[in-house]
Amino acid sequence: MENINTSEIPVAVVGLGLMGCSITTCLLIAGHPVVALAPISADLNHAESRINKHFERSFANGIVQNSPEHYLQNLTITEDYADLKNCKIVLECTIENIDVKASVFGKIEPHLAEDALLTSNTSAIPITQLQALTGRPERFFGLHWAEPSHTTRFLEIICGDQSNVELGEYLYQLSHQWAKEPILVRKDIPGFITNRLMYAMYREAFHLVENGYATIEDVDRSCRNNAGYFMTLVGVFRWMDLTGVKAYHTVMKNLFPTLHNGTEVPKLIDEIVKRDGNGVSNANGFYDYSDEEAEMWEKTFTEFTYKIRELALQYPSDIVKQKMNKADVDD
Ligand SMILES: NC(=O)c1ccc[n+]([C@@H]2O[C@H](COP(=O)([O-])OP(=O)(O)OC[C@H]3O[C@@H](n4cnc5c(N)ncnc54)[C@H](O)[C@@H]3O)[C@@H](O)[C@H]2O)c1
Repeated sequence: MENINTSEIPVAVVGLGLMGCSITTCLLIAGHPVVALAPISADLNHAESRINKHFERSFANGIVQNSPEHYLQNLTITEDYADLKNCKIVLECTIENIDVKASVFGKIEPHLAEDALLTSNTSAIPITQLQALTGRPERFFGLHWAEPSHTTRFLEIICGDQSNVELGEYLYQLSHQWAKEPILVRKDIPGFITNRLMYAMYREAFHLVENGYATIEDVDRSCRNNAGYFMTLVGVFRWMDLTGVKAYHTVMKNLFPTLHNGTEVPKLIDEIVKRDGNGVSNANGFYDYSDEEAEMWEKTFTEFTYKIRELALQYPSDIVKQKMNKADVDD
């Protein structure tokens, strides 16, 4: 994989919420000069301290070897869109609302350099639809991150119908330096890859609970202890290879026709949202939480993201190739 000098590629993150701050941290760790732009002034109240916290934890967990100050000298926090003028990649990371994203693109574009790429961290708005709102759709891509972006190795790079796939390939190359194992989605599809897989599972999970086959706890235990055990090492196809393809072939014939294929949003989640539930963030979700418990779940989740990263790093996608090469050298 070709090494690209990130220190010569200034980038910008527009929108400094939950994800904008962790993406900023990831890009600083990778060596980019980063302009972090607050589209609403409220972001300025928390952005710097959140990014600082990410660096403190990253230092404590050995993700970075230098103190936070070393990385933060490459960071400019601003509200001025004119500061984007030298940036080669601009990453939009505002709320999942197409009107807000369109208005933010309109503010970014007058300041974009000719050769800059514009990207969006949208979870589900089709890239083809978003790029049509911009002046240079061939230079527009989805960059779909997973929170917390400075510890996860997931990244989808999504081409819309008008994107220049070669530029998508460039982002694919570059993102290896962001410590990612990226996925290049060459053709736009709703939900991209990861959400299509995950939502197929969510739909079946609701079906099982709503129809009394299992409790929420049972479904979660099943996810954690079956798929959850192996998926950091292998995906579904390698898993079938490892455990015997023929058995899956047999089961598919009988099981596929019974899987739920409803199109309605499940009642169970509808009721939670109607009572303003948002899960751990407001101690109101599928499970009951006291405020202390909700806070402890957040802390435990953060701790886990660093631990699982350590394990995942020991098992990159080319682990077997690496072991074979080592065995050849040792022989
Ligand atoms: N949270 C996740 O795990 C996750 C994962 C993948 C993708 N995403 C996507 O990333 C994007 C940002 O998500 P987040 O979780 O960081 O959200 P967030 O609510 O934490 O941050 C949203 C940011 O949007 C901006 N914003 C809010 N109202 C605005 C307005 N009226 N005009 C301009 N800017 C405004 C602000 O900068 C705010 O900080 C969304 O598109 C989301 O779907 C989130």
